[in-house]
Amino acid sequence: MAPRNTGHTDDTGPVDTAALGLIPAPRTVTPAPSGPYPLGHATPLSAAPGTEGVARWLRTTLGAATGLPLAEGTGEGGIVLALDGELAPEAYRLAVGADAVRLTGGSAAGVFRGAQTLRQLLGPDAFRRAPLAAGRAWEVPAVVVEDEPRFGWRGMMLDVSRHFLPKEDVLRYLDLLAAHKLNVFHFHLTDDQGWRIEIKRYPRLTEVGSWRSRTKYGHRASELWDETPYGGFYTQDDIREIVAYAAERHIRVVPEIDIPGHSQAAISAYPELGNADVVDTTALTVWDTWGVTPNVLAPTDATLRFYEGVLEEVLELFPAETSPFVHMGGDECPKDQWKESPLAQARIAELGVKDEDGLQSWFIRHFDAWLTERGRRLIGWDEILEGGLAEGAAVSSWRGYGGGIAAAEAGHDVVMCPEQQVYLDHRQDGGPDEPMPIGYVRSLEDVYRFEPVPPGLGEEAARHILGTQANVWTEVMQNRARVDYQVFPRLAAFAEVAWSALPAPADRDFAAFDARMSAHYARLDALGVDYRPPAGPYPRQQRPGILGFPREGAPPLV
Ligand code: ACM
Repeated sequence: MAPRNTGHTDDTGPVDTAALGLIPAPRTVTPAPSGPYPLGHATPLSAAPGTEGVARWLRTTLGAATGLPLAEGTGEGGIVLALDGELAPEAYRLAVGADAVRLTGGSAAGVFRGAQTLRQLLGPDAFRRAPLAAGRAWEVPAVVVEDEPRFGWRGMMLDVSRHFLPKEDVLRYLDLLAAHKLNVFHFHLTDDQGWRIEIKRYPRLTEVGSWRSRTKYGHRASELWDETPYGGFYTQDDIREIVAYAAERHIRVVPEIDIPGHSQAAISAYPELGNADVVDTTALTVWDTWGVTPNVLAPTDATLRFYEGVLEEVLELFPAETSPFVHMGGDECPKDQWKESPLAQARIAELGVKDEDGLQSWFIRHFDAWLTERGRRLIGWDEILEGGLAEGAAVSSWRGYGGGIAAAEAGHDVVMCPEQQVYLDHRQDGGPDEPMPIGYVRSLEDVYRFEPVPPGLGEEAARHILGTQANVWTEVMQNRARVDYQVFPRLAAFAEVAWSALPAPADRDFAAFDARMSAHYARLDALGVDYRPPAGPYPRQQRPGILGFPREGAPPLV
């Protein structure tokens, strides 16, 4: 077995790591020379310059859970936060002693990651919003934790188009990401089934494009419909709040505006965006079922100008410091309408590109240059490699490792999120009780054994793997409880893959991880997360008879 986690050798080391149940596993956990530290009414909380935001977060969350004031300290005793320039930005050191808990980090982000560890060390009730009883004793166990992440991009993508998650639920998800030391929230804001971000200059995007008259209940094969008109969107102030809330948790937000496919909601609001010489785009509506629609954007200058207008507002809402990347989609764009459209064919001739793939590439290259001029970077799904990818763009490798390998070898940065492994909409078990089962069977253990860096990738190319991301597509997740069920507990395994220094997949100690999960399930319970229980779904979590779209086997990643 490859060396790992000195002092954190799962059950055999000097610290009982199963009992602590830290997830994701830190680099090292060693016994502290003194301790534990008792937390009480007199415990002060001191924040050295640069760590005030973390102190505010600790007072809000631990203060609520414990009922303790955590009053302003002087740097002596109690909980002491400080920066340590010797550490990497997201690295931290948490040293418990009988007199103090000293938490230092390479930056405020590192201190914040360490604050998550501190909360885990206090036990599951530290995840509640009010104390269960007055005057209970709290203590931080006598350990020293030294820790840093493996990857700088540890993300989750949430599709709020297929089903809309109200703002409160998005904020809650940011808390859940933070609790797992994840640092990227990829916000899939637009798709065929709904446009979810207010754009002031194009009000019909939300007036028309955020609503559909009915919704397929189950996957495509299901004959059931929910006939209730459905929709919702985030106002610009909602977006500002979400972005600020994420920033306080040191989470970057990647907004996604999907082009040139997955755009039927936009076309239904502004029919001139579609291929009006092929279909009557004025008759199109926000899509009410699932799959890939043929209704894609028309390759016109007017379409480019329209989306530049959208992006001008997007860039204002998602500032460069916390949103260096903007995702432009680029996935699953059927070329049928462009093949039939005289206008699209004339465009191909005029641009001198080879075929319809060239049009797709023209769209993406245009916005790559446009974003670059404004100090941002484009990221897109791996189809953006087709037809040639502009320099500087990054790739979300979703169809397997292949796109990511090609991109990394060509010098592009890559986020690994292959559907075969980390699409959390895919079912967690092959049994008949999984609700609306879709995709491949991907258990907690399967996710735990996912490796973001493809084996055999050269060192130079491997440096371009920025990290990894779990993707949550919500066609059959009608509400927050369904999202919770699909995401948890697997996001805990994913977080460990993204953060911890795990050995090669076959050598990973899943039994030890699973033992730590006992403590973690108690935290998720305290947080009110409606996860899939290890023994299978509760009756209320099942959806008997509602058809999904299960796929068989375990296809290769390359
Ligand atoms: C995708 O799953 N269409 C990126």
